[in-house]
Amino acid sequence: MKTFVAQGQIQNQTADTLIVNLFDDVVAPSGATGAVDKALDGAISELIANGDISGKVDEVGVLYPRGAIAARRVLIVGLGKRDEFNLEGVRRAAAAAIKRARDLNAKQVATIAHGAGIGGLDVAAAAQATVEGSLLALYQYDAPKKKEPQNEIEALTIVEFDESKLGAIESGVETAVAIAAGTALARNLVNMPPNIATPTRMAEAAEAIAAERGMNITVGGRKWAAKRKMGGFLAVAKGAGEPPKFIVMEHNGDRDDLDTIVLVGKGITFDTGGISLKGVQGMGAMKSDMGGAAAVLGAMEAVGRLDLPLRVIAIAPCTENMPDANAYRPADVITASNGKTIEIISTDAEGRMVLADGLVYAERYQPKAVIDLATLTGACVIALGSDMAAGLFSTDDSLRDQLVGAGTAVHERVWPLPLWDDYFKAIKSDVADMKNGGGRYGGVGTSAIFLKQFTNYPWAHLDIAGMALAEKGEGYIPTGGTGFGVRLLVEFLRNW
Ligand code: BES
Ligand code: MN
Ligand code: ZN
Repeated sequence: MKTFVAQGQIQNQTADTLIVNLFDDVVAPSGATGAVDKALDGAISELIANGDISGKVDEVGVLYPRGAIAARRVLIVGLGKRDEFNLEGVRRAAAAAIKRARDLNAKQVATIAHGAGIGGLDVAAAAQATVEGSLLALYQYDAPKKKEPQNEIEALTIVEFDESKLGAIESGVETAVAIAAGTALARNLVNMPPNIATPTRMAEAAEAIAAERGMNITVGGRKWAAKRKMGGFLAVAKGAGEPPKFIVMEHNGDRDDLDTIVLVGKGITFDTGGISLKGVQGMGAMKSDMGGAAAVLGAMEAVGRLDLPLRVIAIAPCTENMPDANAYRPADVITASNGKTIEIISTDAEGRMVLADGLVYAERYQPKAVIDLATLTGACVIALGSDMAAGLFSTDDSLRDQLVGAGTAVHERVWPLPLWDDYFKAIKSDVADMKNGGGRYGGVGTSAIFLKQFTNYPWAHLDIAGMALAEKGEGYIPTGGTGFGVRLLVEFLRNW
């Protein structure tokens, strides 16, 4: 679906489908909805009066103008309660309406930026949320199977009457298109089966982004990593049949006059647990264990499209975690690239092993902040719930607050959890500097304190274990890969 911006009145558009909106307390619509109502001789007011539509969230009413205006149909989407309305309401409304339009086989759709008028939201942000909600809701993974012919909307036009707002609308739409592309990229990588989304395939995705957006890229294999003494990454990769890839991308890599932010993503393309083998129940979901790396790649796609004036580095250590004659084992002692030694308690605590070397590698960029994203612990999902929020740990209060703010704004929530040094007691080892597992209690805290041993800059860790894969889609989040983290990171970077 292509997106456009047009100046004019929505009722005069030549699109086959118009989308307008309604708060739940409206009796006589005003603004764009009022203008369409008037052109239809009060048809919308009549629907309201008869209780056929009420403006509640996710409700979509359909009207047929039958020649009164050029459009063949008008959709009226509910915005819910005025005092609870925000940008998330815009995304939800846009998603509900565009999905109905698609189901009705609309081809040309015209809408307004929901909330930019009477809603009182910032115009650019409202336009962005409208287009983001629409594009994200229409996302579909292109699975390699025979499928029924799908309805496809060709164009979505955001219509604005006030000429002075057009610039803001255009910039909001452009931002949304970039972010939606990054999110779709991340969703695709998570949705691909793990025999396809191999470390090699991850590297190819990164190379395509780098080539298209003029970024530097390095893809290191086993030899490259060995030269850099990346013992954590290589330990996990030892049992892997697929060649591991340590991916480094640089946006504005040579611009050391700009602030540097490093993004690190866990890229376990399939997590069997290794020798500490997982159970059969739901192991297939572990194809999403590269959700952190996917989010970081997706964020780079958006960063490149928006050409953000920052130096942004992405690091994605990618490998499978497999049981094998060569696999690393419990009781092994591994030396990471900063010289710290790790006693292996469980080979299923592999995420922190590859992240350790990723975090050490970040150091060389003298970053103002490093953010890692990882589907790291089941304990985080137990603590916060699935599809609820990512766990957030940070050594820097301002960084923490910026991430919480960005997460709230885009509705990719992150919630602060404590990073007390006392957690280290659980991972103290008799034979190494630390253990890679701290037992059942406080599993998310002990994983975070482990990672902290490999950082020496302002750092935040996001445990996205409950967020990368949705069991059941809702609104603009489809079932499967969510792309969680892309919108959060881009919002954070745009605000930096
Ligand atoms: N990839 C898993 C964590 C996970 C669990 C992600 C559920 C998504 C959903 C991770 O590698 C893992 O196995 N963690 C262990 C750590 C333990 C062995 C210390 C866990 O959470 O049980
Ligand atoms: Mn694991
Ligand atoms: Zn894992």
